[in-house]
Amino acid sequence: MSFDTAASLRVTGAGPARGVLRVPGDKSVSHRALLLAGMARGTSTVTGVSFGQDVQHTRRAVERFGVTVTDVGEGRLRVEGPLRHEPDGVLDHGNAGTGIRLMSGVCAGVDGLSVLTGDRYLLRRPMDRVAVPLREMGARVDGREAGRLAPLVVRGGSLRGITYAPKEASAQVKSAVLLAGLSARGSTTVQEIRPTRRHTEEMLGQFGAKVLVEGTSVTVEPGELTATDVTVPGDPSQAAFWAVAAVLAAEGDVVVEGLYTGFGRSDFVLILARMGADIDFDSTTGTMTVRSTRLRGVEITGADIPGIVDEVPVLAMAAAVAEGTTVISGAGELRAKESDRIASTAAMLRALGAKVTETEDGMVIEGGTRLRPGSVDSHGDHRIAMTAAVAAACAVEGTSEIKGWDAVATSYPGFADQLVALTGAGCEPVA
Ligand code: S3P
Repeated sequence: MSFDTAASLRVTGAGPARGVLRVPGDKSVSHRALLLAGMARGTSTVTGVSFGQDVQHTRRAVERFGVTVTDVGEGRLRVEGPLRHEPDGVLDHGNAGTGIRLMSGVCAGVDGLSVLTGDRYLLRRPMDRVAVPLREMGARVDGREAGRLAPLVVRGGSLRGITYAPKEASAQVKSAVLLAGLSARGSTTVQEIRPTRRHTEEMLGQFGAKVLVEGTSVTVEPGELTATDVTVPGDPSQAAFWAVAAVLAAEGDVVVEGLYTGFGRSDFVLILARMGADIDFDSTTGTMTVRSTRLRGVEITGADIPGIVDEVPVLAMAAAVAEGTTVISGAGELRAKESDRIASTAAMLRALGAKVTETEDGMVIEGGTRLRPGSVDSHGDHRIAMTAAVAAACAVEGTSEIKGWDAVATSYPGFADQLVALTGAGCEPVA
């Protein structure tokens, strides 16, 4: 049985973490590359997209608009845009919040009706954050329940440009509005409360859109996109698991190559360095090198969160073994992720013997604990499952069980195989 489809994974540690590896293509970049290539006139080539289920859902959703996506080998996809008609069926985004939210912005600009849905976890996530600005632009956006909305029904068409200041620091919201802005009358501006990842504005420029970035404000002018070729770099948020594997292991020496080096994605390196880790990130080559050391607790505040929004669970695991207390605050957005990540991270830490107190917008972790084997529930959240696996392999002696392991395939098929290769951990899939 493949690890990727296992309902649970049993992991027996704690060995060293040693090796040189690569991670899947960046998930955020992959979604955008497929969407923009689908919207652009002409043939684009996208190389190295994430092979996780989230991005495969985006690919199939793009195809529903009459865009042909062909696998041309060696990790390359040929995408023949532009979108030709309203989608010919329901757009199923699986577990992918980025997929559904960015696509809602695309649908707002399409003359016709789009229905967007996802799995039971996605249907619990807030969609009003994109519905509100898209309605302001003139799209009709409807759904079942105030706030959560999905399945989401979008009737797109003639939009007007707006200036919008989302109350959350969210690259997904920024991106949905900017993508809709491409087919609006007049320019569209998003003013962020805190700077978030910049993939959409970077890639819109690559596809020939007129984009202006001034501080935390981004403006896009309406216009057609032109096909281009995109190479997707490795995903730093996946490299973070291997960084923490190296710091948790008694003997850790890990190198991850080929990572995205742009803004806002590798701040976990800075946090680990603040904790005293022996870590280096070469921002010209995208190579990260980490060796095991003793860590100390740190304070992580709201200003840090947008830069580590996906890495909090794995950083919390590092904090559990660090000397001293780590206080994480200003992280309320984590409650709206694939799981309520404040609750699921705290429960995971507790299950492995760490001391943690949940707060409304974060948690307090009393470090220095010797972790012990336990049973962790992923709550359908890939990042909880991968964090627990890394801890079980590198910092726990004995056998731990991770329930809901199949969530990992949403972003990182092959993760358990790499874990075995890197740490020598005993991994056993359970049906
Ligand atoms: C993402 C933005 C973040 C992040 C998610 C990917 C993106 O979400 O957590 O994994 O690609 O735009 P928010 O926009 O909700 O912060």
